[in-house]
Amino acid sequence: MPKWLKDAVFYEIYPQSFYDTNGDGIGDFNGIIEKLDYIKGLGCNALWINPCFDSPFKDAGYDVRDYKKVAPRYGTNNDLYRLFGEAHRRNMHVLLDLVPGHTSEEHVWFKMSGKAEKNEYSNRYIWTNGCFEAAYGFPYIGGECERDGVYVLNFFKSQPALNYGFYECKEPWQLPMDHPDCIATREAMKDVMRFWLDHGCDGFRVDMADSLVKNDDAAKTGTCTIWRNVREMLDTEYPEAAIISEWSNPTLALKAGFHMDFYLNRRGNGYNSLLRDYESGEDNSFFRMDGQGDITRFLRDYLPMYEATRGDGYISMFTCNHDTLRPKYSLSDRELKIAYAFLFTMPGVPFLYYGDEIGMRYQRIPTKEGGYFRTGSRTPMQWSREKDAGFSTCPPDALYLPVDTSEDAPNVASQEADEASLLHTVRELLALRHTYEDLQADADFNVIYAESGKLPCVYRRGDILIALNPSEQTVYALVDTGGRAVIYGIGEEAATENGITLAPQSCVVLK
Ligand code: NOJ
Repeated sequence: MPKWLKDAVFYEIYPQSFYDTNGDGIGDFNGIIEKLDYIKGLGCNALWINPCFDSPFKDAGYDVRDYKKVAPRYGTNNDLYRLFGEAHRRNMHVLLDLVPGHTSEEHVWFKMSGKAEKNEYSNRYIWTNGCFEAAYGFPYIGGECERDGVYVLNFFKSQPALNYGFYECKEPWQLPMDHPDCIATREAMKDVMRFWLDHGCDGFRVDMADSLVKNDDAAKTGTCTIWRNVREMLDTEYPEAAIISEWSNPTLALKAGFHMDFYLNRRGNGYNSLLRDYESGEDNSFFRMDGQGDITRFLRDYLPMYEATRGDGYISMFTCNHDTLRPKYSLSDRELKIAYAFLFTMPGVPFLYYGDEIGMRYQRIPTKEGGYFRTGSRTPMQWSREKDAGFSTCPPDALYLPVDTSEDAPNVASQEADEASLLHTVRELLALRHTYEDLQADADFNVIYAESGKLPCVYRRGDILIALNPSEQTVYALVDTGGRAVIYGIGEEAATENGITLAPQSCVVLK
């Protein structure tokens, strides 16, 4: 386990929209470098940068055309290497986004694979043996290449699936995982990882990590075998490199070798019950002040995963990501403060999406580069009230995506100047986390008071007690605080003798 993860807090950067230093309307690596001190000052000591590789951008860069070359719109490979160096100088770490399940249809491997003559790349993707032979059970495309066969997709039409083999081969065109050409795909991906790790990157967020082996069993035995092989390589060659999966099944992912797995927004799951319950129709998110206050919905889902994975790796909570609506979509800044107090005092390694520290809003705007509804969470970072929200100096109509132009659009400069802002609360919470090991990744998580339909919610991390009240009522629970003193609070002061009394929309941390 890389040691630095114990106290890591990640900041996710959508590079298109973070900071533009050359006035072309799109963010760049130099922009990230210029803002490293801001990110560090926030309390985030690690970055996850969304795909920044050469791409036709039919899915915002998740359609990679060249794994080893950055997209010129962000700068050069050397700029990215410099970013690694500047981050390390500040004791920060950088994860890139690895997309192992598919490439762009414009990747040279795919062009070679689509040729009629057999070559080294013929089996790099999954093809049937004839253009009129369907790849039943999979999304597929025919009629695009000179090769006589249809090929399997992993996501959009522009993203053909790489071939890691089939756990169970049911058709003649399905190769087993141990076929040399399938092993070659895995080795090619390890080669990509080595390339970036050798240049100073600290690991990867892994896209659709569970999608590699087809016809896999329920336990994902095939796909897990591949990741265990990758993890062995990392343990031997890059023991301080970290990988986090987009899987949302920590029980499988952490055993398969991932150091961290995202606890993602899935309809009806525990994470959604915290701040995204609108996906169920009626919004009873725990952190809404008018919600039903039922933390047990979260705990029922989370605790078994937490117990089953202790010691294997970390579950990552996140404020939002480039695929979800921003949390501000349904929560006010006041509500977000309590929600973040929770997310940032939980075990594992938390992730903050750029702009969520100031409560940036979800924008209803037209789709861009395969974003569709997701585009509204990918707009330029709002740095100030200046032109283009301080993101760029280009004419507004030249921006990659429009900035939030509303009168009261939140921005960093105004929140810096306001001690009561969400930005300040995020800084305080992260500073608190860095001060006490008990609030970091490893310390025990114990539920002290969590009742359906009742508040507060009280839990212990190591020896630290945390009590939250997201509601608009004053609440009380008979909890023995063991003589602990208040080390932090949000909202009106709490009474902590003879139980805990919390004012509306408040939280308290006791040690
Ligand atoms: C998950 C990524 O987060 C998403 O943005 C992308 O569209 C798909 N995987 C396909 O790579």
